[in-house]
Amino acid sequence: MSAPKKLFVKTYGCQMNVYDSERMAEALGSEGYVQVGTAEEADMILLNTCHIREKAAEKVYSELGRMKPLREANPDLKIGVAGCVAQAEGEEIMRRQPMVDLVVGPQTYHRLPAMARAVEGGEKALDTDFPEEDKFLHLPKARKPKRGPTAFLTVQEGCDKFCAFCVVPYTRGAEVSRPAERLLREAGELVERGVREITLLGQNVNAYHGEGPDGEWGLARLIRELATIDGLDRIRFTTSHPNDMEDDLIAAHGDCEKLMPYLHLPVQSGSDRILKAMNRKHTAAEYVALIERIRAARPDLLLSGDFIVGFPGETEEDFEATMDLVRTVGYGQAYSFKYSARPGTPAAEKAPVESAVADDRLQRLQALLTEQQRAAQDSMVGREVSVLFEKAGRLEGQLVGKSDYLHAVHVQAPEHLMGQIARVKIVESGPNSLKGELIAE
Ligand code: 5AD
Ligand code: SF4
Repeated sequence: MSAPKKLFVKTYGCQMNVYDSERMAEALGSEGYVQVGTAEEADMILLNTCHIREKAAEKVYSELGRMKPLREANPDLKIGVAGCVAQAEGEEIMRRQPMVDLVVGPQTYHRLPAMARAVEGGEKALDTDFPEEDKFLHLPKARKPKRGPTAFLTVQEGCDKFCAFCVVPYTRGAEVSRPAERLLREAGELVERGVREITLLGQNVNAYHGEGPDGEWGLARLIRELATIDGLDRIRFTTSHPNDMEDDLIAAHGDCEKLMPYLHLPVQSGSDRILKAMNRKHTAAEYVALIERIRAARPDLLLSGDFIVGFPGETEEDFEATMDLVRTVGYGQAYSFKYSARPGTPAAEKAPVESAVADDRLQRLQALLTEQQRAAQDSMVGREVSVLFEKAGRLEGQLVGKSDYLHAVHVQAPEHLMGQIARVKIVESGPNSLKGELIAE
């Protein structure tokens, strides 16, 4: 047998891309590729790109530029670009950077083995179609080896919401949900391999409406059925749109024990005028009322959100409305961004807010969110939580895992608890994580 070919995958952006990178590496495994940790030792480099940030494409071109010496040292090195920048730029990538051998969009990863064979034969390979078929169906079934205790499972992709700032509906295409039975099977296989916690992924995950054995299933139904899998102890999902938080999904936060008390529910702005301009199709008051209903179902829920400041037309008053909403709701975790124009989106046509003004607002919002995050983390001290241990800590005899609320927790614990869930009492709140002690059962 020939020596294995070495694959280096560099992943940018969202959890969806982390999942896709795993699937791509598995698909190329069937072509004899094994993953390595550095670009220097690789026979093939794949950049799995993200288009959500400003100048995303430019960053990919400069990353490719930095690979030039590697290619000069090893003329057989193959270089590929995958993900949303590949989808958005297509052939342009190969035109601007002739070193690139392969361009593959997020909908066609199952064709990677054939594409890899083509590039090994000295050809160029490009595929950024949006095929009807389910790309996951064609990926190798062999996911047998043991793996870590947490996994992602993509249940839907794409988005039909068309928020005025966002490129996802254009790069990832229309919303597509995967059939429920296939997801249950895949989840079962993950559990057999040692997975205890599954995070259901989708750009607009709570819009999930997959085909089930008895008609269409929503996300709540999918979660309830997943919860019947023995050995699967924790379920999470991300990312959601407020308008798709249906009653049964809210109820599940109260009555489905395996659904973790953590919800990422972006609002983007607290100003009705800006929400309208963003095409979010809900008001700030509706969002606040929704949060109240979810908290009625699960009072200890830790809420996470996304915010954009400096959206075109945002006044100081609009920004203050966002600050007010944050004060009213209270977030345990948050991601906030300065608006950046994405070419091709409706908002990109509008006059931007002055950059220094947006910077100042971002700073003020982040100060408030950090304060809330801090308070939420500190309030855990003295409480008992469950921790799923994922890896060894830096200190001797220490394990690190996540609490139900997704806080990182460091605990002195025996090694056999790795991959297991234990009850832990939180004793200290550090800069980025908690410290806990095992509770004797
Ligand atoms: N500018 C700034 N932030 C953006 N996001 C999406 N598009 C943009 C943009 N053009 C943020 C939103 C979204 C998160 C994933 O990224 O807050 O929820
Ligand atoms: Fe983008 Fe999310 Fe809006 Fe869809 S719901 S357009 S992914 S921000």
